[in-house]
Amino acid sequence: MSDEQAPVTSAASLVPLFAAVSADALNSLQRELVERSYPGPAWVSGAPGTGKTTVALHRASHLASRLPAVTGGYGGSPPREIAAGGYGGSSPREIADDRPVLLATFSKQLAADLRDRLLELAGPGVARRVDVVNVDALAWRVARAAEPGVTRNWLGEAQALDMWRSLLAEIAGAGGAQAGWDPQFLQEEWTRVVLGYAITSRLDYLRVRRAGRPRRLNRSERASLWELFAEYSQRLAAANLWTFRQLTAHAARLEMARAARAGARYAHVVVDEAQELSPTQWMLVRALAAPGPDDLFLVADLGQPPHGIPVSLSSLGIDIEGRSTRLTVSYRPEPQRM
Ligand SMILES: Nc1ncnc2c1ncn2[C@@H]1O[C@H](COP(=O)(O)OP(=O)(O)O)[C@@H](O)[C@H]1O
Ligand SMILES: [Mg+2]
Repeated sequence: MSDEQAPVTSAASLVPLFAAVSADALNSLQRELVERSYPGPAWVSGAPGTGKTTVALHRASHLASRLPAVTGGYGGSPPREIAAGGYGGSSPREIADDRPVLLATFSKQLAADLRDRLLELAGPGVARRVDVVNVDALAWRVARAAEPGVTRNWLGEAQALDMWRSLLAEIAGAGGAQAGWDPQFLQEEWTRVVLGYAITSRLDYLRVRRAGRPRRLNRSERASLWELFAEYSQRLAAANLWTFRQLTAHAARLEMARAARAGARYAHVVVDEAQELSPTQWMLVRALAAPGPDDLFLVADLGQPPHGIPVSLSSLGIDIEGRSTRLTVSYRPEPQRM
């Protein structure tokens, strides 16, 4: 399986109707966001049509063009000053595709759109220094780079449900009380909560907030569920069956270990449509840039955080306190009145 075949979430409704806006056409707030130096992660929000993607593109271009000039292009090894320039002490070879800036988004389709727009707005010299990619493909790349040659079987939704049913049937056969759980509920709880928050211990499951999940669960219900989850994940592991969420959580752990050893992969990370990211995807994003000035620039629809984000960013090492800005001028054409 290659990047191209990695499962992605379709988000056709998110594809913007975009017209390139040159740097001189940015409004004063947009320009300030693009050019400002931040001591840590920054967050930009606004309704659709307020120019958030425009800002994300100009920001990525600004960061890429500010890094030390490249002689001889990025085909070979990047020059010493980039490697020594202090983004976590990474060696040149370990910088993904020799591109020091990451522009990440949610879907493959949006990434393709960003790539085209960036080229149009920044030109090939700057655009080639920005890695534009969707987060699922990033998870895939990270895992493949860290564990070359490792193969995985992919668990489909129908197969996942079948495995729950057969586990419950076995429990029922043995007279177990846990047989009464609904397989669909188990599947969703396991996917959204256990995998979604990368929970690996009983204690963490007993404590997790389960944001947005239906039905309250008391402590003994959670304890009973955890036994099922533990058994289920053992069965998956035995069959080398993986879901994309598991791969993302795994990639995040691999990347954190790699970053601790060799420094972060990118000098700067910009994320568009950040409201779509799940906690495990945030963990991966966090690991891709070393904490420090201008490390993460996060652009999201919807209101100020934490609205729309069922996750505490600060608990994932992303503290945006005092660095959150809302765009309010809309460039979306008014609907035609009949
Ligand atoms: N400063 C600006 N001046 C004129 N048009 C703009 C400006 N900023 C954004 N636009 C236009 O507004 C539309 C929406 O911009 P976009 O960046 O996609 O917004 P968002 O990501 O917030 O939905 C695009 O057609 C874009 O070209
Ligand atoms: Mg947008």
